[in-house]
Amino acid sequence: MYRKLTDKIHNIGSIDWDRRIFDQLVSIPNGTTYNSYLVQGSEKTAIIDSVDPPMFDDFVKNMRVHNVNKVDFIICNHAEQDHSGSIPMLLSLFPKALVVTNEKCKLFLMDLLDIQEKSFFIVKDNDILSLGDLSLQFYLTPWVHWPETMTTYCKEEKILFSCDFFGSHVATSDLLTDQPEKYIGAAKHYFAEIMMPFRAIITKNIQKISKLDISIIAPSHGPSYKNPKPIIDSYKEWCSGETKPFVAIGYVSMHDSTHSIVEYVAKGIMDGGLNVKIFNLANSEIGELATTLVDCSTLILGSPTVLAGAHPLVIYAAFLANALRPKLKYISIVGSYGWGGKMIDQIIKTIPMIKAEVIEPVLCKGIPKDSDYKNLDLLVKSILEKNK
Ligand code: FEO
Repeated sequence: MYRKLTDKIHNIGSIDWDRRIFDQLVSIPNGTTYNSYLVQGSEKTAIIDSVDPPMFDDFVKNMRVHNVNKVDFIICNHAEQDHSGSIPMLLSLFPKALVVTNEKCKLFLMDLLDIQEKSFFIVKDNDILSLGDLSLQFYLTPWVHWPETMTTYCKEEKILFSCDFFGSHVATSDLLTDQPEKYIGAAKHYFAEIMMPFRAIITKNIQKISKLDISIIAPSHGPSYKNPKPIIDSYKEWCSGETKPFVAIGYVSMHDSTHSIVEYVAKGIMDGGLNVKIFNLANSEIGELATTLVDCSTLILGSPTVLAGAHPLVIYAAFLANALRPKLKYISIVGSYGWGGKMIDQIIKTIPMIKAEVIEPVLCKGIPKDSDYKNLDLLVKSILEKNK
C-alpha cells in the first residue's frame, strides 16, 4: 500500500524510473515521480495535479485500481506541464469535471494547454472547497517556482499538497516516507536548480504554511513526508542568509595551466583549514555545483582564455550561477592566457546578479611563475581571512 496516504487519499501518480533530464536542462540522475493525489470525499472526488503527458496511460491504470469513474474537481496547483499536461486528457475522460485553480494559473493553462474558460472554477487565497466529509483549502504560494503556484490543504487529514514546493527528483516506491533524512540531499539538489532564486518569497510562503497543522507534506515530485519538520527546517536553512565557510571551485583547463593554478589555490585553502570542493566543469554534473552553491560562502571560477574570452563551459557555469542567485559572500576568478583577451571581464559581466564581494582575480600568462604564485598566495590568504 505504498500509494496510500490515508483511507481516503491515495497517490495515483507515476514513477518515472527512466527520465534523466528535465526541461532539457536539469539533470535528474535518479529519475522522478509525478505525484497526483486522489481525494475521495463522501460527496465529491478530486484529483490534485496530474502527470507528465507521456505517463498518462500509467496514470489511468492507477485510477482504475481505485475504480475512479467520476471526478468532480481537478485541482491544479501549478501550470507547468509535468503536472498540468494531462489535464486536457483527464477532461476528455471526465468532461463534467471542473479545473480548480487561481486566476493566474487559469490564464497559463489557457495559453499552454488551450483549456477552455468554461472548464474552470476559480479560487482565491484561503478559499475552501467541500468534498463532503473532506475539504480542500487553497493558499496562494507564488514563486515556488512560477508566479501562479499555490498549495492545497486538507484540514481533516492534515495533509499539505505542495506540488513542486518541498519536492525532489527521485524515483522511489517509498512514496510516503518516514525517513525524510534519506531524501534531504535530493531535495537540496532540487531546491538548488528550481527554487534557489526565490529564497525571499519562499521564506514568506513557509511562514504562511507554518500556521497549518500538518501531518504529511505531499509534494508532486519524490516522496511525501510523514514527518514534515526536517524538510521544512531544511528549506528554512537554505532560504536563510547564512552561508557555510566553504569554497567551491568550478574550472576548465585545456593545457593544464588553469588546472595547476586551481590545485595550488585549493591546497592553500585546505592547508589553511577551510573545506574545498572542486568541479572540473568538463566532466562534472552542473547540478552538483548548483547544490553546493545553496550554502557555500565562496566561489572561485577558473578558466583558460579561448578565442579572447572564457571557456564556454565556464561561461555556462557563471550564467547558471547568476540565474540561481546563490547567497555567496565572496567570488574570485583565476586562469591563464596565451596572448591576451578579456576572460575576467567577460565572466564578471556574466554574473551581475551575484551580490558577492569580488576578491582580486589572478590571471597568469601560461603556467604560473613566481610572481603569479605570490598573487595566488594573496588570494588564498584573503579567502582564509574573510572566512574566519
Ligand atoms: Fe514539477 Fe514546475 O514543475
